[in-house]
Amino acid sequence: MKATRRAKITALGRYVPPKVVTNNDLSMFVDTNHEWIVERTGIQQRHMVERGTATSDLAARAVDDLLKQRGIEADEIELIIVATVTPDMFFPATACLVQNKIRANQAWGFDISAACSGFLYALTTGAQFIESGAHNKVVVVGADVMSSIINYEDRATCVLFGDGAGAVLLEPSDSDEVGILDYKHEIDGAGGQHLYMPGGGSLNPASRESVEKKMHYVHQEGQSVFKYAVRKMGEVSRGTLARNGLEGKDIDLFIAHQANLRIINATAEKLGLDDSKVVRNIHKYGNTTAATIPLAIGDAIEDGRLKKGSTVLFAAVGAGFTVGSVLVRWAY
Ligand code: UT7
Repeated sequence: MKATRRAKITALGRYVPPKVVTNNDLSMFVDTNHEWIVERTGIQQRHMVERGTATSDLAARAVDDLLKQRGIEADEIELIIVATVTPDMFFPATACLVQNKIRANQAWGFDISAACSGFLYALTTGAQFIESGAHNKVVVVGADVMSSIINYEDRATCVLFGDGAGAVLLEPSDSDEVGILDYKHEIDGAGGQHLYMPGGGSLNPASRESVEKKMHYVHQEGQSVFKYAVRKMGEVSRGTLARNGLEGKDIDLFIAHQANLRIINATAEKLGLDDSKVVRNIHKYGNTTAATIPLAIGDAIEDGRLKKGSTVLFAAVGAGFTVGSVLVRWAY
């Protein structure tokens, strides 16, 4: 897919709330243990907000960090896209709340709901506005306060998720070889029944009954999601690479959605990736839904593995089902 002018990522910002909840902390009030969680998921701890802190607060902090990294002011932002499944409220959009918090006076924006693939969907959506020439500075945020929709009595889900936010800045690339090179996204609505939150929407509006039936929490059929994720993450990754004449060995870095270490490892194996090319940080943050990929980008920049010229493949599978992969040549 050849763009008229490419979008490139020129800065990254991150924020996780300071409170850390370890596996042992969770085992105090739900029947689980550190060994099971580490063996089955790779997660050792997650960050969690204090009551009263919302997704827009984390997102605004991540964008503040991004602006500092890039050395620009908020009123230079033209568009804000927020990927989240935990908006502060149904409306207004979290993008509006973020715009107000950071005082991005010239920006418009909107939210994208694609669960764990949300950041990649928002990234490619934002890129379209750069490629078309409509905008020169687009902020793409992945942010979730998963602790607001988790049932802490359900050991099968409560150990998995954490809170966090990450943001990138998209600007026009001056080279066709650098920036967002290609993407491949899919949805499969038949999979919606395996991972969803039934309450609070137009189908099951909030009521005493919806609360009693715990409908305002994440419901997941873990094994079905796991099997689909392992199959699809490999498939979509290979598809994007093949379309660009590449194989696993040709990429410098693989940054996947961090939902389960076993899913990441199985995909890496399918792609024939050298271990050093796989970014893993699920042990620190758990599954932060839309935030996992930008948080992992940050870690890869910090540890020196992601640098100017790196060819990097992002991949995600999430509720919907949603599936995404994006091929990028890193710009800075
Ligand atoms: O990002 C969104 C996409 N989500 C995902 O990608 C998640 C995909 N799914 C998974 O990661 C895994 O399916 C889980 C981590 C959720 C579960 O792992 P699993 O290996 O599939 O375990 P399981 O559900 O088959 O459960 C195995 C056993 C069960 O006990 P029995 O029936 O064998 O006695 C569970 O009750 O493990 C038990 N179990 C736990 N034990 C201790 C489930 N959760 C826990 C727990 N601590 N937290």
